[in-house]
Amino acid sequence: MTIAQITDLHVTTEKDPLNQQRNEDRLRQVMKSIHGLRPRPVAIIASGDLVDRGEIEEYLELQRLMADSEIPIYYALGNHDSREAFLEVFGGPFARTDDNGFVQYAVDIGPMRMVVCDTLEGPNHGDYDEARAAWLSKTLDEAPDRPTAVILHHPPIPSGIQWMDPEPDSPWLGRLEAVLTGRQQVKVLMCGHIHRAFNGVFAGHLVSAAPATSIQLTLDLTEVDMHVPDGREILVEEPPGYALLMCDGTNLTTHLCLAGEYAPAVTYNFPFRKLA
Ligand SMILES: [Fe+2]
Repeated sequence: MTIAQITDLHVTTEKDPLNQQRNEDRLRQVMKSIHGLRPRPVAIIASGDLVDRGEIEEYLELQRLMADSEIPIYYALGNHDSREAFLEVFGGPFARTDDNGFVQYAVDIGPMRMVVCDTLEGPNHGDYDEARAAWLSKTLDEAPDRPTAVILHHPPIPSGIQWMDPEPDSPWLGRLEAVLTGRQQVKVLMCGHIHRAFNGVFAGHLVSAAPATSIQLTLDLTEVDMHVPDGREILVEEPPGYALLMCDGTNLTTHLCLAGEYAPAVTYNFPFRKLA
């Protein structure tokens, strides 16, 4: 069984025609690629920065774009989203809120559980306050034996692309670490935000950050002065991508995928022989 993760869609409207066209074309490419996977994923999680400016019109545009998906889509929020505008358009079973109004929910899909967290806290930084952390703790307590993927828009570890990374002493990182440490059922933390694929470890768990469906961040790991622009490239039109999560009942495994049309290189015409 597989679930696809798309992230950082940054859907917008004709107010921003350049980004609208590019981001929608790339999202369509990703959705086509996901629908062509064998086997077809049973669900899609869209892990935040669903739209670019948090406007209702953008969520309506997203709804229109996703209307012909044959795979159910679950939604999480990122720092470009607006909780109020999102819920106005997308409230319902695919994006529920917790008792405090945060877009947080758990959903059992086949043998696994997906726990969607809300790290939205305004432009370019995440947060996870005590109330949200308490919800996560309670939610993880409810199913300690189900292989679980935790969805967080903001990765809790640095990517090395400094202008996007969290401050190392941010209190929300400590709160999250306290909740996640020792949770044997958590197999992976699936993130977005960095618009680039990378992996690491947080609180003993694999962090898997997926590439964006919209444009990617340039892989530049050098020091940057946040107050002195130096003309460096920061975004690049590398191909759109997504992640694929596979669950065999016990393990969760992630694949990072590029969308697009690629010619087959070799086909299976003779029996396989195991390579020792
Ligand atoms: Fe983003």
